[in-house]
Amino acid sequence: MEHYTANENRYDSMKYRRTGRTGVLLPEVSLGMWHNFGAVDEYQRSRNILCYAFDHGITHLDLANNYGPPYGSAEETLGRVMDEALRPYRDELFISTKAGYDMWPGPYGNWGSRKYLMASLDQSLKRMHLDYVDLFYSHRYDPETPLEETLQALVDIVRQGKALYVGISRWPLEATRFAISFLRERDVPPLIYQGKLNMLNREPIDEGILQLCQQEGVGFIAFSPLAQGLLTDRYLNGIPDDSRMAKGKFLRPDMLTEELLLQLRQWNAEAQAQGRTLAEQSLRWILEQPGVTSVLVGASSTEQLDKNLKCLR
Ligand SMILES: NC(=O)c1ccc[n+]([C@@H]2O[C@H](COP(=O)([O-])OP(=O)(O)OC[C@H]3O[C@@H](n4cnc5c(N)ncnc54)[C@H](OP(=O)(O)O)[C@@H]3O)[C@@H](O)[C@H]2O)c1
Repeated sequence: MEHYTANENRYDSMKYRRTGRTGVLLPEVSLGMWHNFGAVDEYQRSRNILCYAFDHGITHLDLANNYGPPYGSAEETLGRVMDEALRPYRDELFISTKAGYDMWPGPYGNWGSRKYLMASLDQSLKRMHLDYVDLFYSHRYDPETPLEETLQALVDIVRQGKALYVGISRWPLEATRFAISFLRERDVPPLIYQGKLNMLNREPIDEGILQLCQQEGVGFIAFSPLAQGLLTDRYLNGIPDDSRMAKGKFLRPDMLTEELLLQLRQWNAEAQAQGRTLAEQSLRWILEQPGVTSVLVGASSTEQLDKNLKCLR
């Protein structure tokens, strides 16, 4: 096993932003482990990306119970990297996980019940070889479970010491407003909202969620900031064999319409005219929106991560 010592200059170039009105600073660029860290992926490459991220000041790693594939395996990858490399730096890392989507069969492995959230976090901690996570999310709004039940589970998870902070992801506006006041009244104010925001999807702004978070002192972290790779040069000249669009089911070739390609090429030319890449410009656009704390990028190589970090220039 290759020994790892963190880069001593790791905090020199990253910028950190305060998460809402809380004590937590998060890096402007955070790393998500939805793709590229499962058991199907080459372990050494996953480990290299994680270590590269930390070496460049990316202190925040985002997971969910069902990231992989198979489900759970991204958390297992992190557990192994913690054991092999990152354990000495645990207190320099801010690690999140979530529950809310399908995870195990039967009625208790999905949605927003207390039963599911509590059991899922216990499983996640075991897979990641951690005593606690820094942040635990309700991964989605559940229209059938009383919001009070889901939110009380988040409160109790903090009281049990299994998470230091809680957040919500993909909740609609009114439910988010309710969540903020419910959690705050119980002295567990939500740290952050995780929503999809990028140049092709401005829903959190159109729906007023970003503005609500800002008013209420709750952070906002933008997931899929590069629209899964569309907002980079990846698809400007065809669909590469090793790309998410060629391999995965979440980004399909039919999404790449002629109209979209025209738009992407235009944005790419505008970015180049300013001496930047489309990826850098796309990340900058998000970071310039008032109320945004961090962009949560994915990467299938250290080279991609390196390119994305140039948005900090
Ligand atoms: N809360 C939620 O429900 C939710 C939903 C989705 C995601 N998330 C979180 O957000 C994180 C990021 O999501 P995402 O992976 O969709 O983010 P993204 O940053 O929009 O897309 C990442 C993908 O784009 C490609 N890419 C990245 N940088 C590139 C570059 N410089 N040049 C060319 N291609 C580049 C890579 O795909 P290739 O494989 O083609 O190389 C990479 O895997 C997830 O890991 C997860 O933590 C949360």
